[in-house]
Amino acid sequence: MLPAQQALLRQKFLVLGSLAIGSLLYLVARVGSLDRLQPICSVESRLAPRPLGQILLRTLQYKRGLAHEPHRVNGTQEQVGLQRLVQQLPHAIIIGVRKGGTRALLEMLNLHPAVVKASQEIHFFDNDQNYARGVDWYRQKMPFSFPQQITIEKSPAYFITEEVPERIFKMNSSIKLLVIVREPTTRAISDYTQVLEGKERKNKTYHKFEKLAIDANTCEVNTKYKAVRTSIYTKHLERWLKYFPVEQFHIVDGDRLIVDPLPELQLVEQFLELPSRISQYNLYYNATRGFYCLRFNVVFSKCLAGSKGRIHPDVDPPVVAKLQRFFHPFNQKFYQITGRTFNWP
Ligand code: A3P
Repeated sequence: MLPAQQALLRQKFLVLGSLAIGSLLYLVARVGSLDRLQPICSVESRLAPRPLGQILLRTLQYKRGLAHEPHRVNGTQEQVGLQRLVQQLPHAIIIGVRKGGTRALLEMLNLHPAVVKASQEIHFFDNDQNYARGVDWYRQKMPFSFPQQITIEKSPAYFITEEVPERIFKMNSSIKLLVIVREPTTRAISDYTQVLEGKERKNKTYHKFEKLAIDANTCEVNTKYKAVRTSIYTKHLERWLKYFPVEQFHIVDGDRLIVDPLPELQLVEQFLELPSRISQYNLYYNATRGFYCLRFNVVFSKCLAGSKGRIHPDVDPPVVAKLQRFFHPFNQKFYQITGRTFNWP
């Protein structure tokens, strides 16, 4: 064989060999991709036909930032969609309870394609200065959303602040109100732990929980201590019931939201009259965090900040028992009013 023919043959082998290797690599990649985790519900299937069907596929991306800056996109089809974005007053408010799991609830509801959250606590109704700025100021604090979506904000101070029920009623008497509660003694200790951490950060000393929660003179529960008062859920709810019927409230079990969030979220979806869209795929347990974290899609997932899920200090068991006895009758009343019973001691 002539050297020229040999070179031609070598070239042919090289081309055919590369083609064979390329095809093989393609096949391996293709089969591999089939094995990869697929979203249980695709973005399309997360959208209901109508009116939610009009929500664009990229809603989730908008919800994570772009929606707040619609001016960035121009001249495209997307802009047509973005121009329909509006800042809506909340359709539902998580009014409390502080340390009940309000942030987790808001973030988890935000997994729903029809829900848009106000990221910050707005403190419109509990802060006189903010309230004096008027309802347009409040609206401007809301995220952009499509008209078919619902906006939710959370400010746990609302639940315990005297003036708030009347103020919310004046804005929207048919608004939906979400209250997330935890076993009252645990909630009080969680509340204390948050304050304690704040003091420690400033190198300040702070009393022990036992000293604050029990009146040294009477040896009874100190009802002047805010962390105790906040846990008397029925007292606060009764003030709200002067303005809103009980049907306008939905009580969320914050203890269950920690260990098994999906059923609690499904109850909220029903209450908000939303199609069920949050699935187990959206929630995964993170052993390092010791909590459920959120999965929006194959690429985007997140856990709550480290300030959520603090380790509580040990509290003297007799003090815990005393507090539990103290809360018991208030809890009974709370169950009676709300129609939701918990296994609290
Ligand atoms: P602890 O810090 O006592 O554990 P809030 O957001 O109202 O301040 O509530 C904080 C509480 O949310 C935390 O209280 C934590 O237990 C609870 N929580 C519920 N689900 C959570 C989650 N997925 N990740 C982190 N914390 C969660």
